[in-house]
Amino acid sequence: MLHGKRILLIISGGIAAYKCLDLIRRLRERGASVRCVLTDAATQFVTPLSVSALSEDRVYGDLFSLTDEAEMGHIQLSRDADLLVVAPATTNIMAKMAQGIGDDLATTVLLATDKDVLVAPSMNVRMWEHAATQENITTLKSRGIRFAGPTEGNMACGEFGEGRMVEPLEIVAEIETYFAASAPLAGRRAVVTSGPTLEAIDPVRYIANRSSGKQGHAIAAALAGMGAETILVTGPTSEAAPPGVEVHHIESAREMYDACMSALPADIAVCAAAVADWRPAEQGDSKIKKEHDAAPPRIEMIENPDILRTLSAAGNQRPALVVGFAAETDNLIENATSKRKRKGCDWIVANDVSPETGTFGGETNTVHLITGTDTEAWPAMRKTDVADRLAERIAHHFDQNTEAAE
Ligand code: CTP
Repeated sequence: MLHGKRILLIISGGIAAYKCLDLIRRLRERGASVRCVLTDAATQFVTPLSVSALSEDRVYGDLFSLTDEAEMGHIQLSRDADLLVVAPATTNIMAKMAQGIGDDLATTVLLATDKDVLVAPSMNVRMWEHAATQENITTLKSRGIRFAGPTEGNMACGEFGEGRMVEPLEIVAEIETYFAASAPLAGRRAVVTSGPTLEAIDPVRYIANRSSGKQGHAIAAALAGMGAETILVTGPTSEAAPPGVEVHHIESAREMYDACMSALPADIAVCAAAVADWRPAEQGDSKIKKEHDAAPPRIEMIENPDILRTLSAAGNQRPALVVGFAAETDNLIENATSKRKRKGCDWIVANDVSPETGTFGGETNTVHLITGTDTEAWPAMRKTDVADRLAERIAHHFDQNTEAAE
């Protein structure tokens, strides 16, 4: 869900600061990058070294550091972020935010930002209940500052009550909700196919292809990152399940077909899998034996269902946007253009899979996007960048269509 999101985490000086180490880890696991600003007081609770090791970035803290300002000014810190998170937020930092005080790097960044801010308060119950704190909270909420918690519970000071910082995973959930609501593909459902299919000859042998699943998996991750509810139907690959994606593992083309059909209805279908066109007509239950002196077996092949073509002609179940891939070794544009028409899909991504391109199994891809009105040549780029660009194009397409309908 947080693929590619940039979080600026401001850690102020409360005992709950130790939980931020886990928060950083959880955010990064979900694909976010986390840059951290520590107040002086925060460094009494967690060390910049731990924060830096977990965020894999340098840690910022000094407003007047000439090196920091030269490399990354306080304005740039907030410009480079998609969301600011203050966790833990002490009563002191919230008071400064409410009053517009900027007397260190953390508070100056908070004053200088035009990005949304999520605050996870952490303090003693009496400090939380104090009229001054409550007035500050009212002020901050009226300015659109978002709050995660606090919650009620036992406190480090031995008291019980409201003021405990919510657990890291709850802060993560708030952050995910924030991005999901504003994500360009929020409320859309996408089905993506990826990887090869395996077609059994007998219980031990099969016919397969060289697809690695890298491109399809990256597309599923990019669509999920833009807020689409994403179902990935994949043949066997060594790719990890993309975060926030519902993965269905299949082996044969027929299983991929069934999984895709039962994933409908969907708004978007992207067929990036290298589906076997044919399968052995007979798939016996026992291993074909090599008889001495006998001729090698002849394997009769029959056609597999065409998933892309079926999705494109699915009547009222047809996804609003169906995108196919054309894996070609010759006459790329010509073949892909006629493939788009033949399959009935809206767009086709044409890629040259000749062995010298290294596309199958490699990290990069050089594609053309053929939409029917345009043929765009994209430069060679990483498969993850192809995926991000395609997801952006898909979001833009839905944006335009929504505007046109209004
Ligand atoms: N595809 C599919 N189901 C199949 C075969 C292909 O969904 N049984 C999809 C692929 O996922 C891809 C597109 O159709 O999006 C084109 O696949 P490709 O292998 O390039 O084309 P083929 O239909 O197999 O045609 P050819 O082998 O003649 O190039």
